[in-house]
Amino acid sequence: MAEERRVCVTGAGGFVASWLVKLLLSKGFVVHGTVRDPIDPKNVHLKRLENAANLKLFKADLLDYESLSAAIAGCEGVFHAACPVPLGKTLDPEVEMVAPALSGTLNVLKACSEAKVRRVVVVSSVMAASEDPDAPPGKITDESNWSSKEYYKTTENWYFYSKTLSEQKALEFSKENGLDVVTICPSLIIGPMLQPTVNASSMYIIKTLKGERETMMNRMEAIIDVRDLADALFLIYEKPEARGRYICSSYSIKAKDLVNKLKSMYPNFKYPESFTEVEKDLNVSSEKLKQLGWAHRTLEETIADTVEHLLKSGLVDVN
Ligand SMILES: NC(=O)c1ccc[n+]([C@@H]2O[C@H](COP(=O)([O-])OP(=O)(O)OC[C@H]3O[C@@H](n4cnc5c(N)ncnc54)[C@H](OP(=O)(O)O)[C@@H]3O)[C@@H](O)[C@H]2O)c1
Repeated sequence: MAEERRVCVTGAGGFVASWLVKLLLSKGFVVHGTVRDPIDPKNVHLKRLENAANLKLFKADLLDYESLSAAIAGCEGVFHAACPVPLGKTLDPEVEMVAPALSGTLNVLKACSEAKVRRVVVVSSVMAASEDPDAPPGKITDESNWSSKEYYKTTENWYFYSKTLSEQKALEFSKENGLDVVTICPSLIIGPMLQPTVNASSMYIIKTLKGERETMMNRMEAIIDVRDLADALFLIYEKPEARGRYICSSYSIKAKDLVNKLKSMYPNFKYPESFTEVEKDLNVSSEKLKQLGWAHRTLEETIADTVEHLLKSGLVDVN
């Protein structure tokens, strides 16, 4: 019989982690999933996944080291996906964002060191790379870029500040403690949801389809399908040669072009009517990840599966 493989996924009930748990279960892994409340109905989908008998849920909070340590013990690897992803402004950034993101990541890494796990994959964000004041204008953002924490502080963008700081500290921890840590920096994540509650990034598409924005910033949006991200997380975990950070984004498209694409596929929604031009463009490269063997879906497939899912679950409606 093949040797049992056991891994831990933090924040298992979330948008990204749910797809990752599904993938790991399909590949025969035993999964320790951390959730803050195992009996909360928002985590019920996990128990309905195929091979869910191999999923063990652990009640754990990022600020509670012992709870994380119990979930990680006995695992060969850990995927750290848990982090607050706020929908709006944070009232107390230190408590709501910085502490769970930073202390949470360090707690996970400390528990991984103690449990002698083989590799930890930490989910960061492309926004930890894209606001690099030293990058020449027009440079495509890659793994060599780091966002300015000062800039995020000044603009009070505590989520991106926390993601940048936590990723840097995770890589420092790796060097100082000899723990194999690889980070992944996804762009805006969309796709069908497995979880019953709507996460922050899925609101982007929902709002665009529901006519909740009359006008929209014509920003360059970098997009990744949640299922392609789950594949990337698994690939990075499995490939021994994976090192450092990996940007994970499949398409960069102007908001107006994205709306036009949505319109051409689904003409009957109430779409934003005007667009405000912005100077800055977010152009990112996932070349390093592609070199590792990663491939992704077409944008059309992502759009179709996302919209069909939203229609089916009643989260959007045609007029
Ligand atoms: N979605 C995007 O566009 C995007 C882009 C780049 C990076 N990311 C990163 O991807 C990861 C997953 O995000 P997501 O989109 O899947 O968001 P999500 O659906 O909101 O999932 C976040 C998870 O983190 C858990 N969590 C939050 N605070 C916690 C705490 N104090 N202790 C334990 N668990 C806690 C949540 O648990 P509860 O259910 O108990 O709240 C939830 O399961 C995050 O690290 C996020 O920063 C997301």
